[in-house]
Amino acid sequence: MSQPQAAPTEAAVFDALRAVRDPDLHRDIVELGFVKDLRICGGNVAFAIELTTPACPVKDLMQSQAEAAVRKLPGVEEVTVTMTAQVTASRPLLGDKGMIPGVKNVIAVSSGKGGVGKSTVAVNLACALAQSGARVGILDADVYGPNVPLMLGLTGQPGVENKKIVPFERHGLQVMSMALLVAEDQPVIWRGPMLHSAVRQFLFDVAWNDLDYLVVDLPPGTGDAQLSLSQQAHLMGAIIVTTPQDVSVLDVRKAIRMFQTVNVPILGVVENMAWFTPPGSTERYHLFGEGGGARIEKEFGVPLLGQVPIEIPVREGGDRGQPIVVADPTSAAAQALAGVAGKVAQRVSVLNAQ
Ligand SMILES: Nc1ncnc2c1ncn2[C@@H]1O[C@H](COP(=O)(O)OP(=O)(O)OP(=O)(O)O)[C@@H](O)[C@H]1O
Ligand SMILES: [Mg+2]
Repeated sequence: MSQPQAAPTEAAVFDALRAVRDPDLHRDIVELGFVKDLRICGGNVAFAIELTTPACPVKDLMQSQAEAAVRKLPGVEEVTVTMTAQVTASRPLLGDKGMIPGVKNVIAVSSGKGGVGKSTVAVNLACALAQSGARVGILDADVYGPNVPLMLGLTGQPGVENKKIVPFERHGLQVMSMALLVAEDQPVIWRGPMLHSAVRQFLFDVAWNDLDYLVVDLPPGTGDAQLSLSQQAHLMGAIIVTTPQDVSVLDVRKAIRMFQTVNVPILGVVENMAWFTPPGSTERYHLFGEGGGARIEKEFGVPLLGQVPIEIPVREGGDRGQPIVVADPTSAAAQALAGVAGKVAQRVSVLNAQ
């Protein structure tokens, strides 16, 4: 009769888990300190892996690798791996100037040209990050044409508590927009100092509650509002949205240079309206040309975070307050946008680790 196997030791489990590497941070999960709460009870082994973002695209892969590595150990009968995350915060090199209270990472969504789908990308990026389990807010800083509330189906006036503006809650997001502070149908004509103080109030007077990511939808171009934001707040990074055609790509250059001048890392470029596939077909029609994102990637060395096709439900969802990643998560556009969210979260983790 064979003897029952002795229970595995903690050291043996940790040793086995060294085989699992974080593909972005290029180190193993033990060295990175990601393995937590190891409990061994006879042949039952349970532990948690704490990643730096819940939106990690390789989360499932790492979980199954960890499980398989420990299962191989002699004496192991059952393995339970819990995946958790603690998002790292982006900090300025010195002090904490520009840190927004309650926010770990501010991500600006920008574009050279108007109408390329910045707000659509910002809203869906925020929703996709929230769907992964992260705590996410969206700030509509487009003082000239704020339309995030419409895209999220929000109306009304925000409340005030302890002299701070209380953000709205929608689709799991904390939301604030200039549109919710000014009367509807009132054009906003702000210049210089007024704009500066409006942005400031927006950034620092909202009671953001413990956010991993605050996505900021900027007005198009490289004007006062963009500069004002990057001077006043510590931005973790910027995403630039473009369409594939040359005129749009030209404007991207300006946007990239602006963020580089103010030392804000470019997280990458999203190519929106990349192609159109008619219903029932698999053909891709490149209505706005092809390869703009790839050209930017090559010229500036900034990653292409994703290509989002044109889909009528994207616009419809935007118009009735149901972002496509919520309304139809399996559509090609939603999948592309969720992919963008995963890549953004990865880039934030990697840059914060450096
Ligand atoms: N991939 C897409 N498929 C279909 N429609 C889209 C797509 N992306 C954006 N749209 C639509 O195009 C219009 C412009 O998009 P959006 O408002 O997001 O652009 P923007 O860059 O924020 O514009 P602005 O410069 O005015 O702020 C909207 O009606 C939106 O619903
Ligand atoms: Mg917009």
